Amino acid sequence: SVGKNLLYEGKAKIIYTTDEPEILLAHFKDDATAFNAQKRGRIVGKGEINCKISQLLFQYLEERGIRTHFIDCPAPNQMRVMRVQILPLEVVVRNIAAGSLCQQTGLPLGTILKQPLVEFYYKNDQLGDPLLTRDRLLLMELATPEQLDQLQQQALQINRYLSEFFQSCGITLVDFKLEFGLDAQATIRLADEISPDTCRLWNSSETDPNNRVMDKDRFRRDLGNVENAYQQVLERIQMSSQGS
Ligand code: C5P
Repeated sequence: SVGKNLLYEGKAKIIYTTDEPEILLAHFKDDATAFNAQKRGRIVGKGEINCKISQLLFQYLEERGIRTHFIDCPAPNQMRVMRVQILPLEVVVRNIAAGSLCQQTGLPLGTILKQPLVEFYYKNDQLGDPLLTRDRLLLMELATPEQLDQLQQQALQINRYLSEFFQSCGITLVDFKLEFGLDAQATIRLADEISPDTCRLWNSSETDPNNRVMDKDRFRRDLGNVENAYQQVLERIQMSSQGS
């Protein structure tokens, strides 16, 4: 299925329609943005690396019963996905305090959370993706109470699978963002991508707070070696997926 019409262009991906109405084509871009697109740049090779990493992680999760939008990859930076109606929510799961959690609570960077924290943000660039409360989310009818419970449970289950998998790669899964959509049967499916753009990943054998970073924080904080870090994550995931 070749890409036909441009359906949507986001910061990191372009979505095309295909000949089949229920299938879309996602093109992963090298473009990088941070801080609600106030910082822009390019990470050479990122499109292909993130496409491959997302493929391997979606397949890993599918094998464990998590429903995703993934179908296949017709090219290194292209992914065929099931058409879903994306819920305008960013579901963030945190195992270790970093980023906005530290900024908004004062918890020191690196604090290990006693239990994973699930947060819901309103996916809205104009409003700056604000953190929602459960009641605000329901008030705005962004999901039903049943869907909200399912999202929470799936996010925690995905966190257990991904944390275990990354641990086997020598990588600590600090936090990550998920997006979900509803398919034609109104079933919740994991969508978007899972990559170093959307996860905080720390090299487990490195204690230096700058050297350990293997994710988009290298770009956000100008730590350098962004391409290398992303490539390292892919290589470790490939090694681990062959072994399992
Ligand atoms: O910035 P914050 O600490 O809230 O980010 C938590 C996690 O969600 C990080 O892994 C970050 O990369 C991811 N995230 C994302 N897209 C956003 C906001 C956060 O992928 N718009």
